[in-house]
Amino acid sequence: MAQQSPPSPSGYPILKNAVHFARDPFAFVEDAVAECGDIYRMQLPGIDDVFVLAHPDHFNRVLVTDVGSFGKTEDYRRAFGNGLLSVEGQQWRRQREMLQPLFYRDRIRGYTNQMVACTNRRFETWTDGESRDMETEMRDLTLEILYATLFGRRLAPGDDQELREAADGLNEWFAPSSWMLPPWVPTPARRRFKRSTKRLRREVRALLENDNTESSPNTGDGVEDPSPYNHRDPSDPAVPDLLTQLQRTREAEDTTQLTTEEIEDQLVTMVFAGHETTAAALGFTWYLLATHPDIRDRFHEELDTVLDGNPPSAADLDDLEVTERIITESLRLFPPVHTIPRRTKTDVELGGYRIPAGRELHLSIIHVHRDEEFYDEPLACRPDRWTEYFEEDLPDFAYAPFGGGRRTCIGREFALLEAKVVLATIGQQYRFDWEQTRELDLSPRVTTRTKDGIPLKIRRR
Ligand code: HEM
Repeated sequence: MAQQSPPSPSGYPILKNAVHFARDPFAFVEDAVAECGDIYRMQLPGIDDVFVLAHPDHFNRVLVTDVGSFGKTEDYRRAFGNGLLSVEGQQWRRQREMLQPLFYRDRIRGYTNQMVACTNRRFETWTDGESRDMETEMRDLTLEILYATLFGRRLAPGDDQELREAADGLNEWFAPSSWMLPPWVPTPARRRFKRSTKRLRREVRALLENDNTESSPNTGDGVEDPSPYNHRDPSDPAVPDLLTQLQRTREAEDTTQLTTEEIEDQLVTMVFAGHETTAAALGFTWYLLATHPDIRDRFHEELDTVLDGNPPSAADLDDLEVTERIITESLRLFPPVHTIPRRTKTDVELGGYRIPAGRELHLSIIHVHRDEEFYDEPLACRPDRWTEYFEEDLPDFAYAPFGGGRRTCIGREFALLEAKVVLATIGQQYRFDWEQTRELDLSPRVTTRTKDGIPLKIRRR
């Protein structure tokens, strides 16, 4: 086995790479790859070195061909207990087997009408000519959609601020300032995270205890209900919500049974993994459309032709080819999950270097997505690059917004359907303009965020 450790980018004597990384984590990755190549070792004060991988071949090795040598990091378990994102081995296999059918494409498409209804409710609050931060708007909307489809509950625009803040706070665990410090240091971000999980767990427990799915019909709009947890969404769902489906697994008498605690962990995990990610995809897509009027015109034209003024149905969505390519390109340029973390279970040799057991490594998705080895003019937004031939020729893992291998995103179909429905529903009635003189400034958590939001001028079409 190779004995050499991967090179480390130059840094300051005591703070090492921390200053450059904290100031601009994405620029740090670019500079570090330019200096050290596609595997490097980030040195941070107070914690073990972190290894960063920036080539699709390394991703393939970690996620597929040598998957047994790499495990999940402790962070996810600390944050989300025994949810699907964190568990490993037999427990993961059992949970995935149980949850997978709930995310099959055909089943997910049954949520289309609910997604349209939530989107309509949100833009009813907009006025022509005003500016809104689309990062926040999309986060609110995807939480409302997740709430409707996961819990069968309506989260009204403007309501439940505390709950929205709690869902938002889940990302704080992964703030770069906390990420660089040992887990026992109580940073403000970590304290916020703890408050948020507590609040969400309380909510989920109450929903589980009060769920009367089997016994009571929809309460409908305007019907008084003594419990705040019994407000089922009145839009008639073609598919029962996830909570209802998970409830049934408590009664299963085989390996697919989930305990109450596991269900609770699943629901908090889904709120975390399922709303902010899709919100980022949508926010960045609106930004790209607003800054590329030629692409925006084609997008609106397609909606007008295919939908002809009607709300999008599941069947229409397959015909929205331009929209689909725009989403694909947006997920390339701004992958909502910019890095995938893992921990080595044994000593491994990677790219001619040795990485010891028990070390954290990061697969830099955003770097590979913007690498000119795979994409001409990688920083240009060119949805038309996504031809069938281009995709066929692309090496495995040169495009990996949803990860890959057996731990690939279970919510992929859900997210892609939701992105299309929201874009189509809003894009039929509104267009957005970017009137800022500045560039978009990115600021990563576990998801890709901006420093100052995505303020867009709303125009009724
Ligand atoms: C554009 C939106 C989304 C993106 C970019 C995204 C990305 C990802 C990525 C990269 C992973 C792999 C993480 C790893 O290997 O450590 C993942 C896993 C996961 N995602 Fe997503 N995701 C999105 C939407 C969703 C949605 C809507 C849900 C649920 C409703 C969801 C639930 C999950 C779960 C539970 C896992 C863990 C799967 C497992 O380990 O078996 N995601 N996601």
